[in-house]
Amino acid sequence: MCGIVGYIGQQDSKEILLKGLEKLEYRGYDSAGIAVMNNEGIHVFKEKGRIATLRDAVNQDVAANAGIGHTRWATHGVPSKVNAHPHQSNSSRFTLVHNGVIENYSILKNEFLQGVELKSDTDTEIIVQVIDKFVSEGLEVEEAFRKTLALLKGSYAIALLDELNKETIYVAKNKSPLLVGLGENFNVVASDAMAMLQVTDQYVELMDKEMVIVTEESVTIKTLDGNVVERAPYTAELDASDIEKGTYPHYMLKEIDEQPLVMRKIIQKYQDENGKLTIDQDILQSFDEADRVYIIAAGTSYHAGLVGKQFIEKMANIPVEVHVASEFSYNMPLLSAKPLFIFISQSGETADSRAVLVQVKELGYKALTITNVQGSTLSREADFTLLLHAGPEIAVASTKAYTAQLAVLAILAAVTAESRGIELDFDLVKELGIVANGMEVLCDAKEEMEEIAREYLSTTRNCFFIGRAVDFYVGLEGSLKLKEISYIQAEGFAGGELKHGTIALIENGTPVIALATQEHVNLGIRGNVKEVAARGANPCIISMKGLETEEDRYVLPLVHEALTPLVSVIPLQLISYYAALHRDCDVDKPRNLAKSVTVE
Ligand code: G6P
Repeated sequence: MCGIVGYIGQQDSKEILLKGLEKLEYRGYDSAGIAVMNNEGIHVFKEKGRIATLRDAVNQDVAANAGIGHTRWATHGVPSKVNAHPHQSNSSRFTLVHNGVIENYSILKNEFLQGVELKSDTDTEIIVQVIDKFVSEGLEVEEAFRKTLALLKGSYAIALLDELNKETIYVAKNKSPLLVGLGENFNVVASDAMAMLQVTDQYVELMDKEMVIVTEESVTIKTLDGNVVERAPYTAELDASDIEKGTYPHYMLKEIDEQPLVMRKIIQKYQDENGKLTIDQDILQSFDEADRVYIIAAGTSYHAGLVGKQFIEKMANIPVEVHVASEFSYNMPLLSAKPLFIFISQSGETADSRAVLVQVKELGYKALTITNVQGSTLSREADFTLLLHAGPEIAVASTKAYTAQLAVLAILAAVTAESRGIELDFDLVKELGIVANGMEVLCDAKEEMEEIAREYLSTTRNCFFIGRAVDFYVGLEGSLKLKEISYIQAEGFAGGELKHGTIALIENGTPVIALATQEHVNLGIRGNVKEVAARGANPCIISMKGLETEEDRYVLPLVHEALTPLVSVIPLQLISYYAALHRDCDVDKPRNLAKSVTVE
């Protein structure tokens, strides 16, 4: 979703801002802009569409040592040059970029901006116009900024330039992510560390309702009451090469290929010096005290939660409910007496999940976040964190984070089981090693997956994924992958549920991808395949070694039956990737989607 960058220092800011925005492209956006400030004033360049278009529009002759930039994912107002950020006040004195949603923007407009002609349809423009109004009424800029922030309801990450103070970028944050990066003779602002890794790996976290005065030499964090806050920086442990595509045509393909490596890294990270899987004692104690686990997540992470429920219930014998974050936040179910919450979020920034975390913390419940991003909001605000160690995931469609989530959930379930005195009949370290090997075989089967995509999906307008038990959950993830990046209408269904409606959609040639990895439902799912085939469908069965029959299109390398989702999802990721390629879709940046959904 929207991304923010800012730079103030001695170098020309244009290129640093543009490069930063390119690094934020993965978050999803529909327009972009920068504003740079020099002795002549503030120069704004903005365009609808890609950063490349913005780059062409930037006047290279303008040199400026300070600037802010933005990628916009439209919420208020269509994607257009006018609605793109930065936005300027009518006097042109103030220029601002914003990520988030201002819920009371029309109230503010009516109260403070009667007679002010607005140029855009955005909630953001209200902020900059109100600041200008307060300054024109006599307030100092910092005071006007603070007063405006105190009026805002909703979420924001903001960077503001004042034409009459070329030494400062004003910054503020509430609910939307924002960091300040530190350098020698410069400082930067960024929605995430990746954007500015090119210039620094030292970052300071910002908390909600803080504002920051950033100059070339200093960073002063203040609360909205004006109290100065001291906070030590941390080193962003990201390798710049992790965020490059290298020789890969797309991040998605690179990230699919990284899965065996990530698997091995997770095993290693969660082993103690004796090779035993280990989890923080405090987390285990919270599981021990809980009578029910509530998993909260969105998108792919929600699908990982569905599989995680199986792991925790079957291994550790604790009941688990899985909830979509956006629903839970306003429709909380009746909770058990001693609930424990698990938030699964690749980014650790998803606003819907965060809203639930805030609610359950207010109720006094314990929360564990499973995330890929150390220091992310969900990680900071939960009691405990388990990291995915998957490395940055850039492609909007999540792949390696999903399998990493499954592996961490399996480890969590197994270690919890052990701590509760439940003996498992398999060695998870060994079995995850076998999974990593299986993943390698699947990543090497690209030609075959491309062929399947060509055969089943080149011209279809829809596709169904069916499975029973845990295969149903993997089918849901497969269908999400396919619709996200190829725009084929895809749905996942429980095999047994087909007859209750969905089968009416089967026509001659409709592709139905069926997963058959579970012995106890193998006959059932094969029966469902027969039912759809009898009605003209074109079934593509992906089965587990040992369960295969002659009609199967692809046989997965054998892994432990509890861990099949870790391998069965990979063909679905690859098939989706090739289907999107065949259809000429923008694989890494699908239309309308954002990597990190930071608005509720
Ligand atoms: C967006 C992304 C999905 C992701 C979901 C949840 O919709 O496009 O890939 O699964 O958000 O994100 P999270 O970071 O919380 O896992």
